[in-house]
Amino acid sequence: MDKISIDLNRSRGTIAKELYGHFSELIGGVFYDGLWVGEDSKVENIRGFRKALVDSFRKIAPPVLRWPGGCFAETYDWRDGIGPRGRRPRRVNWWYYHDSRLESNQVGTHEFVDLCRMVGAEPYFAANMTSVTPLHIRNWIEYCNIPAGLTSLADERAANGSPEPFNIHYWGIGNENWGGGGQMSPEMCAREYIRYTTILRSLGMHDNRYIMCGANGLDFEWTRRLMKEWAKRPWQETPTWGVSVHYYTDWGHGHDDLVFDEEGWYDEIFRADRMRRIIDEHRQIMDEEDPERKLKLVIDEWGNWHKDGSGPSKGYNLFEQQSNMRDAVVAALTLNTFNNRCDVVGMANVAQLCNNLHSLYLAGGENFVETPNYYVFSMFKDHQGAKQLESCIEADTMENEKYGTLNTLSASASVADGMLSITMANLDLNTSKDIHIDISGKKVAGKAEWTVLSAADPLTCNTFEDPFALVPKMQEITLSESKTVKLPAASVAKLRIHIMED
Ligand code: AHR
Repeated sequence: MDKISIDLNRSRGTIAKELYGHFSELIGGVFYDGLWVGEDSKVENIRGFRKALVDSFRKIAPPVLRWPGGCFAETYDWRDGIGPRGRRPRRVNWWYYHDSRLESNQVGTHEFVDLCRMVGAEPYFAANMTSVTPLHIRNWIEYCNIPAGLTSLADERAANGSPEPFNIHYWGIGNENWGGGGQMSPEMCAREYIRYTTILRSLGMHDNRYIMCGANGLDFEWTRRLMKEWAKRPWQETPTWGVSVHYYTDWGHGHDDLVFDEEGWYDEIFRADRMRRIIDEHRQIMDEEDPERKLKLVIDEWGNWHKDGSGPSKGYNLFEQQSNMRDAVVAALTLNTFNNRCDVVGMANVAQLCNNLHSLYLAGGENFVETPNYYVFSMFKDHQGAKQLESCIEADTMENEKYGTLNTLSASASVADGMLSITMANLDLNTSKDIHIDISGKKVAGKAEWTVLSAADPLTCNTFEDPFALVPKMQEITLSESKTVKLPAASVAKLRIHIMED
């Protein structure tokens, strides 16, 4: 029998709600015909945004939403996205070469902030560090954050319909500058970041949280060289909140999401499990220049990156893919990893929200569906802002020459408002697990909520034709003295238990 032991007295701290962040880029079908249908659409909408999606998204309490890229950010001019929508320019954007679609700029700063306010998320703006100037980004911040009446840019914002400042705190400076963001060396990236933030600092907005572009996955050397260069300037002159890392499980490999065998299942799972090493090693390297750990590690983009074309648009929407139990298990494994490293990860954003990569939604025309990934976020919601609890797992392990050791059971635990939440994923494709839950430190009630997301066939997915093929099922259970739960093969589950007062 497998075992999860939880000590209610051992914690790494609070699980920042920002670990449950999201990413939405102006790419393919994320916005156009995805999140955004336009005010005149016959699809029910709230000020242009698809109502069904807004209503659903709000339910999982998204803490943060990153925009407008991704790589898109590195050809974005924020001025294209303000003013009357009918007069906004159409542009060839960063992704044009890949999908020949033009950017209509219908979703600009005001619309995006409106979406964030509707769902209760903090906007996180990714600023262009490659093809505009520091002054241009400084002006964007001034446009967003200065009270009306003080400067011409603030008045322009008011004239465009928002007298109140947007108060955008999260600003990513650059995106993947080792690649699409200018093919920079780490030293050049750090120098550019310093050049930009020195100018941005002159705005005096001490609440702004600037995020420096970090590495691609396991590229630890990037972080070492970046940090070394960055640390040459005094901390107070280069205000920095975090350093980002992007990690996609099968980038450049492209697993097929509609068919996979046992090997394809485990290859993806082993790759996803590398997130532990990615966090631990990047943090250790950051420690060399930031021993006090003032900087946060920001996993700006994460998710599975499958072969193109498995989504409902059949390849029209760039990087759109279907989602099944393998994606759900990867989402759960990754979120458990973040929870268990909540002392070092400051934010994480799954890529992307709709019609793209590891998405929570698929949509087009009147059609809209919540993917299994959505349900994982919904099941894990209670961890946001809760006190993390250390858990010790005893389960079968697997070995892989390339990736190392995999524990076939993933779990994390937290407590908030007298409720203990334990989330789990059975990474074993074929074998269910009987799990003994051992809780020390306090008594727990016998009654518990047990929610399971699983399917007889792990390839099951939610489609426009069959939108509820894969949904979680919740039941009330009584935990006997032996405190045992059964976790089906290839599944995700949550246990919620009331903690008794002393
Ligand atoms: O998420 C899709 C793309 O992946 C983003 O634009 C880029 O940042 C990453 O390479």
